[in-house]
Amino acid sequence: MPADSEPLVGRHVLLGVSGGIAAYKAAALARDLVKAGATVQVVLTAGAARFVGPATFEGLTARPAHADVFAEPEHILHVRLAREADVAIFAPATANLLAKFAHGLADDLVTSVFTCLTCPVVLAPAMHTEMWLHPATQDNVALLARRGARVVGPADGDLAGGDVGPGRLADGGELLAAVRAAVAPPTGPLAGRRVVVTAGGTREPIDPVRYIGNRSSGRMGYALAAEAARRGAVVDLVSGPTALSAPAGVSVHHVETALEMRDAVLPLAEKAEIVIKAAAVADFRPATYHPQKLKKERDGLAHVALERNPDILAELGAVKNGRVLVGFAAETDLEEERGREKLHRKGLDLIVVNRVDFADAGFNVDTNRAVLLGEDGSRTEVPLTTKAELAAVILDRVEAVVLARLPGR
Ligand code: PMT
Repeated sequence: MPADSEPLVGRHVLLGVSGGIAAYKAAALARDLVKAGATVQVVLTAGAARFVGPATFEGLTARPAHADVFAEPEHILHVRLAREADVAIFAPATANLLAKFAHGLADDLVTSVFTCLTCPVVLAPAMHTEMWLHPATQDNVALLARRGARVVGPADGDLAGGDVGPGRLADGGELLAAVRAAVAPPTGPLAGRRVVVTAGGTREPIDPVRYIGNRSSGRMGYALAAEAARRGAVVDLVSGPTALSAPAGVSVHHVETALEMRDAVLPLAEKAEIVIKAAAVADFRPATYHPQKLKKERDGLAHVALERNPDILAELGAVKNGRVLVGFAAETDLEEERGREKLHRKGLDLIVVNRVDFADAGFNVDTNRAVLLGEDGSRTEVPLTTKAELAAVILDRVEAVVLARLPGR
């Protein structure tokens, strides 16, 4: 990034480090922040100091790295450090640190500084998968995000002890980007707008073991949610079951069935200015749910009676209240014709038509190809590309509709 457009030049960044194995990566982050022109003040928990000593951070930042709340009683250290900060990042943020932050505990320097902060805060959780998925950790992170913290990661990948899964500290580039975005928030047409994105496939249960589902991985919807958040939108992502981690700064609402998706989407859409429906919603569900596992010999599974699910997108299109509405069409033939029909029938502003019968597009791959059809007659063809890039093209089109339609702020 050119020095004259680098938002971190001359900024005071507080880097809080807690006691996880990823603490060693905080040293590289401190170096990257200094290279970007920031003054970096490191504070460590006792656990962090067991992984990486203060001398490492002092060498990289040319400032004392503090771990003791009583180090400068005459200056009330935790208050001074919090007041000096333009932005704070806690990386890695352990399950314990997040729990203390969420509940306002202030029993060491890092937690005491946190409770005094008034600047933007970035949290980069890193821990073992079991700790990350524990409901207490998930609730704590959701609470902190609701209070305004930007949560980056964790990523999926190699963990300490040879394990693999969600819980890995987000990579250095992502952390730096999050700190930059926190000090210089995006100002484009999506900034501050409420966006609802749906992703993944629904599962319609037959009995406690079996369900009717589809091959959606959630990747297209997650890419859209991540891109909208990067553009400064306030994003609610309603997701069917997936193996994906929450994109940075996005509130995820997990659902399983089409009816649950409808219950989650409709109230969120009431408050939203833009709704993008990338989810593969089952059109039918079993008419009867059997609470006991069906026995193939006794009950027979050859005939499962089905009933129609509501069409969530069509419901939203029927009462738009000025919202920008984007749908997807998953097709195997006559795609543009069928897409255009759905665009008009469901009252959409834009439909993203994608083929789902190619190996490199549609379901469960990182790439896609699509044609974007606008209600204004526009047609944008996007040849084979990553879902992240397709998400950017879709949001460029959404921004154009927003600029033409919604009042500025
Ligand atoms: O998740 P990935 O593996 O990344 O795959 C991405 C994708 C192929 C799932 C995605 O790109 C896509 O095409 N999503 C829409 C899939 C779909 O259900 O298409 P459809 O043509 O059946 O539905 C049209 C639109 O109506 C969709 O926006 C859908 O969300 C919506 N719908 C459909 C049925 C229903 N009951 N309620 C709905 O809201």
